Amino acid sequence: MAQEDIFKKLVAHCKEYGFVFQSSEIYDGLGAVYDYGQNGVELKNNIKKYWWDSMVLLHENVVGIDSAIFMHPTIWKASGHVDAFNDPLIDNKDSKKRYRADVLIEEQLAKIEDKINKEVEKAAKRFGDAFDEKQFRETNARVLENQQKWDALHNRFAKALNDGNLEELRQIIVDEEIACPVSGTRNWTEVRQFNLMFATEMGSTADGALKVYLRPETAQGIFVNYLNVQKTGRMKIPFGIAQIGKAFRNEIVARQFIFRMREFEQMEMQFFVKPGTELEWFEQWKETRMKWHQALGFGSENYRFHVHEKLAHYANAAVDVEFKFPFGFKEVEGIHSRTNFDLSQHQEYSGKKIQYFDPELGESYVPYVVETSIGVDRMFLQVVSASYHEEEVISANGEKDTRVVMKLPPVLAPVKLAVLPLVKKDGLPEKAREIIDSLKFDFNCQYDEKDSIGKRYRRMDAIGTPFCVTIDHQTLEDNTVTIRYRDTMEQDRVGIDKLLGIISEEVSFKKMFTNLK
Ligand code: GAP
Repeated sequence: MAQEDIFKKLVAHCKEYGFVFQSSEIYDGLGAVYDYGQNGVELKNNIKKYWWDSMVLLHENVVGIDSAIFMHPTIWKASGHVDAFNDPLIDNKDSKKRYRADVLIEEQLAKIEDKINKEVEKAAKRFGDAFDEKQFRETNARVLENQQKWDALHNRFAKALNDGNLEELRQIIVDEEIACPVSGTRNWTEVRQFNLMFATEMGSTADGALKVYLRPETAQGIFVNYLNVQKTGRMKIPFGIAQIGKAFRNEIVARQFIFRMREFEQMEMQFFVKPGTELEWFEQWKETRMKWHQALGFGSENYRFHVHEKLAHYANAAVDVEFKFPFGFKEVEGIHSRTNFDLSQHQEYSGKKIQYFDPELGESYVPYVVETSIGVDRMFLQVVSASYHEEEVISANGEKDTRVVMKLPPVLAPVKLAVLPLVKKDGLPEKAREIIDSLKFDFNCQYDEKDSIGKRYRRMDAIGTPFCVTIDHQTLEDNTVTIRYRDTMEQDRVGIDKLLGIISEEVSFKKMFTNLK
């Protein structure tokens, strides 16, 4: 099945099974804003716990905060967001559709890359085990020709971005003959900059209202609390401050479901270090973060680092962790070496000294910062994309069937255990409730007595429940149940007293964190 079709199915599945709903749906929705349903919120909370605990429990020198969304407007002047938090936009005059000029060019680069990869895949099939990919890439004429095209376009694009040259961005779009996907024409306007921050007013207008912004990143809340945390926590450099919270961006080209939203959530950590050591820490955090992603078991081949073509105004090194979504490799997380830009700017704009006295050096300095920044929603999309499977199975009556199963890492699954009485009588529901009552404070359990056992298993597969236990008449006699494992669909007969141990072992964060250490 084409990846596009799989993605459509995934979006429909997320709605049908209470993971993600369009915001304000009964009013025809609000663009690029989404709500999380009963299963979505559990999965999202588990993702946040995985991140939070891996930062503040695993690292003695990382602490958390929760800063307000509204902040003094001068913060955004100091950080550069008022003047430079822009996207280069271009309109197609025929369809009247608006696009990000940089994204149109990135998609063109991805098309060339796709051509190269298809050549390589074809050759790999043709030559089988004898295939030497490196040699093929270095010698095949079509691959070399496309690689040259890619390099030339990439260099031109990177230069235009770094120079902030909007005319050149437009010229690239024209030269590459990029057409509007809606009208199919190449009738483009000029490229213009568009600021992404939402603004509102605080206080009554009569008193002179203050123009405030909805924060476009949580990071600034950390920077402006640097002194508070360092002093009250007696933190010694190097140390980090972590935060999870909402961020808002007036994204013009908001597409691909929860990949690019106008209201989203970030998990950010600013790590404050001695000047001159930031690039070492940058490498270390790159490795730590990649390990965190890969520990979920979605396959290391589905991740890569992407080095930024253009460094943000505050950075001296930056990479993205990219994941292979059904629509291609895309950014999930950014890791940035932000120098001392933000703290220096806040020092200047606030007039307050923001420095660290280093007892080892016997001097004060403005710390440098390495940031790790990941979107909760994008991580959610990574998890559901990697977990969604359609499998051919043989049903109870011997016929071929398809089961949709979310092979979520058990630790992240919204429901860990479903307890299913075989029939709604003979004391089986009561026994099932008894089991739930004994386990419900250990993990999220769900009771279900409606429909056949087969249908109930399918419902649990669809939301990614790793364990189902069935209560039958034998349970009443010997206190054993049938436990069914989601991924293998295998079943075992086990004592009720064994359930806590079997399930805890699989759904424990502790095990994940031990692997990360
Ligand atoms: N403080 C640095 C910062 O905000 P960013 O690369 O703009 O850097 C970090 O954003 C992460 O936030 C991204 O890697 C992505 O996961 C998430 N993110 C950014 N914009 C988003 C949007 N419009 N919708 C959903 N997630 C977004």
